[in-house]
Amino acid sequence: MLEGKKILLGVTGGIAAYKMANVASMLVKLHAEVHVVMTRNAAHFITPQTFEVLTKNKVYMDTFDETPDDAAHVPHISLGTGADCILIAPATADVIGKIANGIADDMLTTTVLPARCPILVCPSMNGYMLENPIVQDNIAKLKRFGYQIIEPSEGYLACGYEGKGKLPKEELLVEEILLQVAHAHDMEGKHVVVSAGPTEEPLDPIRVITNHSSGKMGYALAKAAAYRGAKVTLVSGPTALEPPIGVEIKKIKTAEDMYREVTAAAETADIVVMAAAVADYTPAEVADQKIKKKDGDMAIPLKRTKDILLSLGQNKKEGQIICGFSMETENLLQNSSAKLTKKNADMICANSLTQEGAGYQVDTNISIRNHIETKADL
Ligand code: CTP
Repeated sequence: MLEGKKILLGVTGGIAAYKMANVASMLVKLHAEVHVVMTRNAAHFITPQTFEVLTKNKVYMDTFDETPDDAAHVPHISLGTGADCILIAPATADVIGKIANGIADDMLTTTVLPARCPILVCPSMNGYMLENPIVQDNIAKLKRFGYQIIEPSEGYLACGYEGKGKLPKEELLVEEILLQVAHAHDMEGKHVVVSAGPTEEPLDPIRVITNHSSGKMGYALAKAAAYRGAKVTLVSGPTALEPPIGVEIKKIKTAEDMYREVTAAAETADIVVMAAAVADYTPAEVADQKIKKKDGDMAIPLKRTKDILLSLGQNKKEGQIICGFSMETENLLQNSSAKLTKKNADMICANSLTQEGAGYQVDTNISIRNHIETKADL
């Protein structure tokens, strides 16, 4: 995903510096060209050799430690201007203060100053240091100047403090980079609404009627739209998935909740994708107390839920594109085409439950051009 991209990691003197070896390795595996600039203090926690072995590139610590090869291209300028994305993590209070105030007195700060690419800064320090109003003011200043701040996570810090200030998981740092550079931001300015996962229709305080949807399809679509720079609202039923970063998540349970959230978000949406497996029926009554078993069989009266896709199709805004999904066990194309017309959608993605590699709870789907029916020139 990062073929041809140059990623610069700025590593400063926080205990979490050692975690950046994993970040460098993950970026290399995604085919990025990775360069590392460290502060002198970072070398107390991890050696430059670690990064050199992982990235196959020279690590710089001092503005003046040039090799004869470097003389032709002034490393701090070429590294700064040549990067597609810079991640400074862990970012100490010191480096944040320097960058926020235009101080460039070492290799990292002089490299950042000429850069024109997205710069991500992940503050990582003791919670009291982080709360210090001067540090907060410097962080706010960086934001004002267009630096992207990755919020530190909460947990047990090396100093014994419990709270905010931890470097987030390496996977998340890599995701933040992918969000910036994995794909051209050709959907910038577009609002995409995606629904995902199952709904849960309660019968009583203990039982629900639900389905096998994992949410993987909707989450993957939301992530792809975010990679392309869209503003994304993901309306999700209960799933075990981590929400993709850079995506606004609205968690819901019932079909009625989903109707409310999707309809509200659709007001400003350019594209709505209904990937959720919404219940068509819900119990006519929800018992306040647990339903106790009795002798003999039992029938549960059900009533219809609102058809969200139909309602979106009927109230389509000017220029809006509505996409539905269709899961079938037989007559895939015929049944799916009927939904396209009936629900006034622009596109229906037809999913066969019986085909290997498609269906519920799998990481893949089948893409056959003929199985995608559209009305609009998308
Ligand atoms: N959908 C919806 N609101 C509902 C039910 C489904 O918006 N209450 C959406 C789904 O998110 C999906 C599409 O409609 O995009 C599926 O169409 P639908 O006709 O509901 O599929 P099935 O329920 O599988 O159809 P049928 O019961 O006729 O097989």
